[in-house]
Amino acid sequence: MKVLIFGSGGREHALAWAVKKSPRVTEVVCAPGNGGMAGIARLVPTDLHSVPSMLAVVEAEKPDLVIVGPELPLSLGIVDELTARGVRTFGPTRAAAMLESSKAFAKRFMQLNNIPTAAFAVCTNEAELHKMLHHFHPPIVVKADGLAAGKGVLICDSREEAHEAALGLFAGKYLDAPAEQVVLEEFLVGEEVSFLCLADGKNVLPLIPAQDHKRIGEGDTGLNTGGMGVYTMKGLLEEGMTEWVLHHIAQPTIDAMAADDMPFKGVLYIGLMITARGPMVLEYNARFGDPETQAILVRLESDIVDVLEACIDGHLGGYQLEWSPGASVCVIASSAGYPGSYKSGLPITGLEKVKEAQVFHSGTKMQDGELVTSGGRVLGVTAAAATLREALNRCHTALGKIHFDGIYYRHDIGHRAFSKEKH
Ligand code: AMP
Ligand code: GLY
Repeated sequence: MKVLIFGSGGREHALAWAVKKSPRVTEVVCAPGNGGMAGIARLVPTDLHSVPSMLAVVEAEKPDLVIVGPELPLSLGIVDELTARGVRTFGPTRAAAMLESSKAFAKRFMQLNNIPTAAFAVCTNEAELHKMLHHFHPPIVVKADGLAAGKGVLICDSREEAHEAALGLFAGKYLDAPAEQVVLEEFLVGEEVSFLCLADGKNVLPLIPAQDHKRIGEGDTGLNTGGMGVYTMKGLLEEGMTEWVLHHIAQPTIDAMAADDMPFKGVLYIGLMITARGPMVLEYNARFGDPETQAILVRLESDIVDVLEACIDGHLGGYQLEWSPGASVCVIASSAGYPGSYKSGLPITGLEKVKEAQVFHSGTKMQDGELVTSGGRVLGVTAAAATLREALNRCHTALGKIHFDGIYYRHDIGHRAFSKEKH
């Protein structure tokens, strides 16, 4: 069968790699893809901002299965359009993807359905903001309503700062467009865990939990990024916690979406904060995480195509996934300057010497027959092993062989797990 994947990041490279392993798959096409995927898939240009452009690719390629990677095409309704044309497509509809594309929708949804989340208020103008801010104690989290690629969240140390930040979001200061709604939130303290599940509209199947490292600097310091590295291992969530999250968060979310006539099919990514009051939802995403997917898929032993099709067909009930035991790590190698401005077009060398890890490309392209950097996050060096230490060592050995000008990566991915070991 022929599988088409929309997207161009490390997540899509990992998906293409996993899909390619299925004995049922004869061809993988990525649109638009990146320099790394070129080795395992055929690349076709497309504009992920444009539904007609993506429909044209599907029309020309006639794939048996389409997988939508990023949030933007989901929020534009690509799944609705393809499903209406009879194309088997993995991902939520535009309405269901609102769990990610509107924070105001997601927060109200959680409140109505008793899903644990931070106390919040939705404001649409300065007067409301003024009134609501009195109910919050600093630090106060201020978020823009729409998709913001991680740039729409501001953590403020005083009400005055929160007021300024919210006005800035209304005025379009931090993002491309002015925010129509701003969400104020109580600041939660705890450890973050990415809890990804597959859903078929009715049933939920958890993947292995992962921990992302969002800050650019060692020890979780400096600016927020798209994610600098992820690990997975047994014990990341305490015994019983996975069951609790499934029964009190994941399944009720899917049940309530179905009851509201927005059945959710696809990946429900639950961003959790494990607080002293128990796990609480920081955010929902309606797609695979990046770089969570890289670290999760290197441990998946089941055929990914079978389970994605079970989601589409509503056959997830009773489905079991097989995982390799142990742990996995993905370390992101980024361009100097990221998440600020950085140079592109720098030659990448040494990849052919890497044997101990999978290198998933995030921001690379082929230029005059040479692989060069083309983004802030460039490579996701990923390994699974019996222990977290061994997986991390493999990533570091591999990274020692790879070069591009200004290559930067965090050396402390998984540090929370290591510091727990010592106690
Ligand atoms: P979000 O896009 O909503 O996940 O927010 C991005 C990041 O901001 C999260 O991964 C957290 O690190 C942080 N964050 C968001 N909401 C809160 C909150 N209520 N309390 C503490 N940190 C938060
Ligand atoms: N790793 C964070 C995200 O995919 O949203």
